[in-house]
Amino acid sequence: MNIFTCIRKIWRTIAGISGNVVTATLLISLILFFIEKYRYDKKRKESSQEAAVSAAGSGPQIPGPRKVAVITGASSGLGWKYALTIDKHPEKYDVTEFWLIARRRDRLEALASELHLPVKILCLDLTVSENLDSLEDLLKQESLSAGGASSFAVSMLLNCAGYGKYGSSTEIGRQEECRMIDTNDKAAISVTAAVIPYMQAGSRILEVCSVAGFQPIPFFNCYAASKSLLYSYSRSLRIELLKSGISVTAVCPYWIKDTEFIAKAAGQQKKLFLASNASRVVRLSLFDVQHHHALSTPGLLCTLDRIFSGWIPDEVLAYIMTLFL
Ligand SMILES: NC(=O)c1ccc[n+]([C@@H]2O[C@H](COP(=O)([O-])OP(=O)(O)OC[C@H]3O[C@@H](n4cnc5c(N)ncnc54)[C@H](OP(=O)(O)O)[C@@H]3O)[C@@H](O)[C@H]2O)c1
Repeated sequence: MNIFTCIRKIWRTIAGISGNVVTATLLISLILFFIEKYRYDKKRKESSQEAAVSAAGSGPQIPGPRKVAVITGASSGLGWKYALTIDKHPEKYDVTEFWLIARRRDRLEALASELHLPVKILCLDLTVSENLDSLEDLLKQESLSAGGASSFAVSMLLNCAGYGKYGSSTEIGRQEECRMIDTNDKAAISVTAAVIPYMQAGSRILEVCSVAGFQPIPFFNCYAASKSLLYSYSRSLRIELLKSGISVTAVCPYWIKDTEFIAKAAGQQKKLFLASNASRVVRLSLFDVQHHHALSTPGLLCTLDRIFSGWIPDEVLAYIMTLFL
């Protein structure tokens, strides 16, 4: 047997095994998808039956329970668009009021003036740990004054606050890299942990991650790594919360051209190959959130990246990704 026949034989054996492994795992993930969907529906039905029984026994008419959508990064881009979209059909998302979080008060007030539902404006820098404490305190106070879990719940959390910076790690520097991790990871995880105690079966968490989280990206290094952390966190949290009927969706978009993100990342607005727009990303991802999907890749390029990042080794993919910057 010559060397080429030997290589061909080894190749065929590996391809045969990996083909079977891919098929089997795809089948398992499909089965898991239906099991999870069944559990979410069952939990939601049980909790709405319980709510109906307690409302019937509560005697005189009381106002309906408050169902809050907490949106971080609501002063622009995706957060802004999610608020407008949910506001058009609040009953579909089980929301009766918004809590809008970002640093720019004027922008939050401008958004509030466009919404029909009641709004609480929380002008907070989420990288400051005292602000995260005050969010936790506020949730506690509001829940107590409303009369507890039957009258107050967070039905949606949309974690959109985040930013990235182009450049080598050396150019960006220690402070900026730490700020990116504080905003994209520490803040997102802290806000999530703060709201979970006020969520019920049927509540939804949407973590805005990115395709950048699917592989390493040189010259967008720290940002990609921070989104990778949030992606991994979201996928695990989903399984942890499955029993309670709270779903977690990791939303991983490709470039979006009509938000402030690209200009802030590059220092100027750039034209990027096949960039999507915020309305499309919001529409497609809300569909996934509504249906309790674990992962949302709202667009063709992010869906392709999701598929290929599972197959192509990081060593190769890291080079390919620099072409999309
Ligand atoms: N646009 C894209 O190409 C793209 C692609 C994939 C993923 N994403 C992700 O999508 C999310 C939303 O981005 P976007 O495109 O909508 O960009 P954007 O228009 O720049 O929005 C970012 C939001 O985050 C808020 N924010 C930033 N730092 C904050 C802090 N320390 N505390 C509180 N709020 C803070 C900003 O509000 P203030 O400045 O008023 O505080 C702003 O509302 C981000 O997590 C981003 O990583 C974006």
